[in-house]
Amino acid sequence: MGMTDLTELQLLTELEPVVAENIDRHLRVAKNWNPHDYVPWDDGRDFAALGGEDWSVEQSPLSEVARVAMITNLLTEDNLPSYHRTIADNFTLDDAWGAWVGRWTAEENRHGIAMRDYLVATRSVDPVALEQDRMTHLELGVAAPDGFGGALNQVVYVSIQELATRISHRQTARVCDEPVADRLLKRIAADENLHMIFYRNITGAALDLAPDQTMEAIKKITTNFVMPGEGKPGFRRNGVLMVKHGIYDLRQHMDEVLKPIFKIWRVFDRDDLTARGEQARAELAEFMDQMEKNVIRFEESRARAVERERARAAKRGIDPEKVAAAG
Ligand SMILES: [Fe+2]
Ligand SMILES: [Fe+2]
Repeated sequence: MGMTDLTELQLLTELEPVVAENIDRHLRVAKNWNPHDYVPWDDGRDFAALGGEDWSVEQSPLSEVARVAMITNLLTEDNLPSYHRTIADNFTLDDAWGAWVGRWTAEENRHGIAMRDYLVATRSVDPVALEQDRMTHLELGVAAPDGFGGALNQVVYVSIQELATRISHRQTARVCDEPVADRLLKRIAADENLHMIFYRNITGAALDLAPDQTMEAIKKITTNFVMPGEGKPGFRRNGVLMVKHGIYDLRQHMDEVLKPIFKIWRVFDRDDLTARGEQARAELAEFMDQMEKNVIRFEESRARAVERERARAAKRGIDPEKVAAAG
């Protein structure tokens, strides 16, 4: 690459054949599945408006952490109109880019449909609170912070985010501890994995096309990454609970998301960068070193918190193993 950046139009035009190829690849491996096949409809019954009984918490077969994880993941899926807007703006609706925006949106919508049907039919969560939270969440929407627009930033963000979402769904399956939810969430997680591969491939091609520019996007997105859903009802409290139970924590973000993706992009092995690309990469390396330290500090403090809970439980004569399992 020369001294000047590729324009948005140049990037989109140059990457369009790669998008087309990856749509073909995606369609060959994606599984068409039906949400209704993953919902135990026999568990369902009417609510009070139709002469039945309204929801109360003792009806829920899920633990509190499983409920929180399910709701958080569902609200994230529900916010699809916001993400659709964002990717349509950044990728455009032209040519292969537009075809992907449509396909991806339709697949993501299936996730929200299936999870909501499951949760309402099984009375796993409060359907009134769920609906109120969905309204609040969607009215708020999501907007990329200033300076994070553009195809490169977006494609890097979704590469990371799809993989994070995959892990979050799989870990939620674990805490639900219920075979139908397990099947459903693993099915969704498999979709997220294919989405991640799609975006990871586009980013890989962008790195070859415009190494410095893409490296700068990788640094910028990684060092400012937040999961979608800030401003979600209960975001902070629920986030803390989910981190505590290993649904999605910093260790997973580092070891299972960032490092494997960076390896495939050969972030730290490329020899096609000029000084500014090198600069971005050096800052990224520094950020990852700091993250390594933060992960260790966090895990130590989490372990101490679990120890304190066990000690308190032992004093009250509660089986410490039960606390360990919950912690
Ligand atoms: Fe999804
Ligand atoms: Fe996805």
